[in-house]
Amino acid sequence: NQNAFGMIGLGTMGSNLLQNIADHGYNCAGYDNSKQKVDALNNLGSENIKGYSTLKEFTDSLKSPKIVMMLVPAGEIVDSVIKDLLTVLEKGDIIIDGGNSHFTDTEQRFIDLEGKGYHFVGMGVSGGEEGARRGSSMMPGGDEEAYEHLKPILEKIAAHVNGEPTVAFMGERSAGHFVKMVHNGIEYAIMQLISETYEIMKKGLKMDNEEIHQVYKKWNEGRLKSYLLEITTDIFAYKNEGEKTLLLDEIRDAAKAKGTGKWTSQAAMDLHIPTPIIDIAVSMRNLSSLKDLRVEASKIYSDSTEINYKTNNEDYCNKLEDAFYFAMVSAYAQGMHLLYQANIEFDYKVNLDTIAKIWRGGCIIRSEFLEDIYFAFNKNPKLQHLLLDNEVAKSLTETLPGIRAIVSDAALHGISTPAFSSSVSYFDNFRNENMPTNLVQAQRDYFGSHTYELKGKEGVFHTKWMMENIKE
Ligand code: 6PG
Repeated sequence: NQNAFGMIGLGTMGSNLLQNIADHGYNCAGYDNSKQKVDALNNLGSENIKGYSTLKEFTDSLKSPKIVMMLVPAGEIVDSVIKDLLTVLEKGDIIIDGGNSHFTDTEQRFIDLEGKGYHFVGMGVSGGEEGARRGSSMMPGGDEEAYEHLKPILEKIAAHVNGEPTVAFMGERSAGHFVKMVHNGIEYAIMQLISETYEIMKKGLKMDNEEIHQVYKKWNEGRLKSYLLEITTDIFAYKNEGEKTLLLDEIRDAAKAKGTGKWTSQAAMDLHIPTPIIDIAVSMRNLSSLKDLRVEASKIYSDSTEINYKTNNEDYCNKLEDAFYFAMVSAYAQGMHLLYQANIEFDYKVNLDTIAKIWRGGCIIRSEFLEDIYFAFNKNPKLQHLLLDNEVAKSLTETLPGIRAIVSDAALHGISTPAFSSSVSYFDNFRNENMPTNLVQAQRDYFGSHTYELKGKEGVFHTKWMMENIKE
């Protein structure tokens, strides 16, 4: 038994991660219940990698404490693999779940396995297939003792930013999967924001694909530099084979989702943390999938007036850049706020600056701005909300006129920008000392005797609001 690392699930992600680990000189083992995948692994011809077709041979080949990582679809399959593993592993061995498991499942599995004497690490892995091969961002949670065993390997296969690996211990129990879930929520939000900029440029400014490509390219050279803008720039250059048209134009506008964005919104609702940009992004994917309804409605509400902003596109795209910056900051801020609260609620012992630090490279939401987020939380570990950081406040104030203009023009011209709009509305209420929700409290008390609190007075109050009790 000489293998340092074992992988169960030899899809592209699993196979790529193993190759990455093997590149760093470790002997690795792979297992899959598909013989074809085991053969494919063995056919890679790597001296350091061996595929096994029985679980027993696979685990027998590992050094103790054995490290076994699962990259299998989230849900029941994870439980069934764990069940099988317990027949061949020994106490003290380490099981890593590297899939997108729901954090509540991870919480339960951690408690069960800890009780049985095994180490369980719920680890978010971001960066897709390419990241797995060349360096991803990894978010392990569970117990730190187990992490110490994994650390030398994980730090080598992670992406690196300024020489530092994009992996770190995230916190107790299900912390790793919670952090990865929020990463995905932010991913949904930023993707939605980018699609709104596309809509404005295409329908409002009547720009063609090449012009839009140039704008994304330029943005990605400045403060908006990010992986998601980089791939968007590429997508706007990807032509249909042998033609001048873009593949993008042929793609049906119905977005699918595996659920992690929805989970983020659900968790945010449960923890009473507002994350409207993420919520909107999830809703818009759902609306996009209601294609038939949208086609029907488009006939009823068709508008023959041509949308045309008739403006200087270059100047306008600068405003759009401001708007995107503003909304992007807000999207990250909402995600970080959710992490702040989860940390308290679940006692994860997560450092928010560490999260920002390991998101700076390797993962899907990596961006220049994460450096600023890292800096803000590093400077002030007690920072409750990113929008309260002075530097962030400065750049939001500068970009505010841009987003106000973009959102109001879009509304006037019938262009849908729900994520942009919600980022401004969120901001305007976040900085609102007196929200109109005193009225909501009064209404609740009127119809349901739900009581209200009074300014400057202790206790709760109830009023008989019926008209007969109201003095003229
Ligand atoms: C990542 C991605 C990855 C996956 C998403 C896709 O960080 O590498 O987030 O986890 O691509 O889960 O999510 P949807 O299918 O829900 O868009």
